[in-house]
Amino acid sequence: MNNPFDLSGKTAIVVGGAGGLGRQQAIGLANAGADVAVADVNAERLAAVKREIERIGRKARTFLTDITDASAVQAMTDAVVADYGRIDILVNAAGITQRHPSEDFPEELFERILNINLNGLFYACQSVGSVMIRQGGGRIINVASIFATVGLPESVAYSMSKGAVVQITRTLAVEWADCHVAVNGLMPSWFETPMGKVADNRDQFYKGATRVPTAEELQKKTIGRVPLRRYGLPHEIIGATVFLASDAASMVTGHLLAVDGGFLAQ
Ligand SMILES: NC(=O)c1ccc[n+]([C@@H]2O[C@H](COP(=O)([O-])OP(=O)(O)OC[C@H]3O[C@@H](n4cnc5c(N)ncnc54)[C@H](O)[C@@H]3O)[C@@H](O)[C@H]2O)c1
Repeated sequence: MNNPFDLSGKTAIVVGGAGGLGRQQAIGLANAGADVAVADVNAERLAAVKREIERIGRKARTFLTDITDASAVQAMTDAVVADYGRIDILVNAAGITQRHPSEDFPEELFERILNINLNGLFYACQSVGSVMIRQGGGRIINVASIFATVGLPESVAYSMSKGAVVQITRTLAVEWADCHVAVNGLMPSWFETPMGKVADNRDQFYKGATRVPTAEELQKKTIGRVPLRRYGLPHEIIGATVFLASDAASMVTGHLLAVDGGFLAQ
């Protein structure tokens, strides 16, 4: 029997692929056999991911693309199709967060978080999804969060953006099932990336908050609540990503896979 996880001959785009999780997802897809295009706003880290994909022996392309600009997203999609011929896999991993009490959450911050986490993700689904529909199929993986389903204090824009990502995922899965475009999502808990390791970035994440908690308090509030009692390591996102990108998941669409050390099982 062929390896159902084999992605040889497939083409993937990882949006936010220069980030902590996106980079691992891009490398994981390349290791499984896919050629990978990576889009992000961080030029330096994009170049590093490109080198890593090429070291694996796969074709890599990078795009300095701000996903809040729908026409830039469309231009990236068109360039990948022109170069690779098709797009089999889309991973949406771009995202930002910042805490602030809800009662005076700044409008500009609110809009910025939603523009990236929600609107930008949808632009990528729309433009790449159209290509997949035309070519007769494809697989989309949207990175949501455990905070799509449970509340996170002082993070109203982040939590609502991730809740919306879940509903984009389910809606497109149902709408595009006839076109053989599978749309699934991931719900990570805290991972050891700059975004996830909040205890190390207290000043940044609690910039507007009433009080910056101590590292010990945060530890208790975060991974103290995870049954496995630890942060996820960035590479631990790869297995679920390759699974959802591959034929091994041929009967899976509209699913949100928690990669959360048991958090949502409580
Ligand atoms: N790390 C965690 O603990 C965790 C937990 C749950 C969900 N997530 C989600 O996983 C995804 C990846 O998070 P991460 O931890 O790798 O964060 P990260 O900050 O390391 O990576 C995010 C990437 O998105 C890119 N990005 C930001 N704005 C962009 C824009 N306008 N256009 C294109 N790219 C843009 C950044 O440059 C960065 O490379 C995010 O959607 C995040 O919400 C992370």
